[in-house]
Amino acid sequence: MKIVVTGGLGFIGSHTVVELQNEGFEVVVIDNLYNSSESVLDGIFNITGKRPIFEKMDLRDKGSVQQFFKKHQDISGVIHFAASKAVGESVGNPLLYYENNLNSLVYILQELKELPSANFIFSSSCTVYGQAEKMPITENASIQTAMSPYGNTKQIGEEIIIDTAKVTSINSILLRYFNPIGAHPSAEIGELPLGVPQNLVPFITQTAIGLREKLSVFGSDYPTPDGTAVRDYIHVVDLAKAHVIALKRLLNKKNIDKVETFNLGTGTGSSVLEVIQAFEKVSGQKLNYQIVGRREGDITSAYANTDKANSILGWKTQLSLEDALASAWKWEQKIRS
Ligand code: UD1
Repeated sequence: MKIVVTGGLGFIGSHTVVELQNEGFEVVVIDNLYNSSESVLDGIFNITGKRPIFEKMDLRDKGSVQQFFKKHQDISGVIHFAASKAVGESVGNPLLYYENNLNSLVYILQELKELPSANFIFSSSCTVYGQAEKMPITENASIQTAMSPYGNTKQIGEEIIIDTAKVTSINSILLRYFNPIGAHPSAEIGELPLGVPQNLVPFITQTAIGLREKLSVFGSDYPTPDGTAVRDYIHVVDLAKAHVIALKRLLNKKNIDKVETFNLGTGTGSSVLEVIQAFEKVSGQKLNYQIVGRREGDITSAYANTDKANSILGWKTQLSLEDALASAWKWEQKIRS
């Protein structure tokens, strides 16, 4: 079966391509290489022994999207990762985010709805919950007003899919990720942040390798056990596997609703200081860090209730925070060597 993976050379996309190929799917990757590199194809090949079909394409170009789907009428599903994801950048350039994250989604759905096998997996985010009242967060927690244009594109994206599925043959699963980290254990693929990393783990590994002088820990006065903010860090390989399981659910017509939503996290919250300690343990490196003020827009705590994904998808995380940090460290060392 032929599956399209948009953003398939990005961080989560590339790991999902590996898992799909390992399960025997034929993969067509669409990527505009805006925030990724063609060399990721080599990493995928080194792991799986297979090279996905690659189409360099910008999904904001409606004509190209139409042509692509005309050429690939035999596809069985789309996993849609392609999107911009930097919260700060989205505040400064909202139209870039609305154009890139929403136009592309609309163009794909317009073509997909005409195909016999209109299965669609969407990358959503726990950001839709804002600061939830109760931990751990279930899928029924209320959606909060988005704190950034980026977060808003995820909320609107979910709504676009729900409205479209009601009146077309499209079936979809919305996957709300908590904090994806780590790299493939082979260190053949991993995260390649552009410029100064905004996310915690790439900043930690770049500090440990000497690219950054020190990590700033944003806030130690949160109402958490050690005062630093708590998140649910999930290994990208566990996350990638969930996509294959969700896709198979749609392909086997096992979904109960036309659109289903699942949290993807570990179910365990870790504070920033706990992540630093775990990193120091697995890497044997002492990390230079300093506690500074809170980062604007950050929430206190977010971790997932994963019961729904565990029981309905039959998916559970298999890898630990330590596994994830060890793989991220191995990857950082490999790309700087
Ligand atoms: C962020 C986004 C989220 C998005 C996700 C995508 C915000 C508010 N949220 O999640 O919407 O889906 O990235 O990857 O931007 N931290 C430090 N020092 C650093 C970097 C981070 O202390 O240099 C702390 C943060 O304050 C936070 C935790 O580490 O408590 C995790 O931060 P990060 O990796 O940026 O993820 P989120 O902010 O949870």
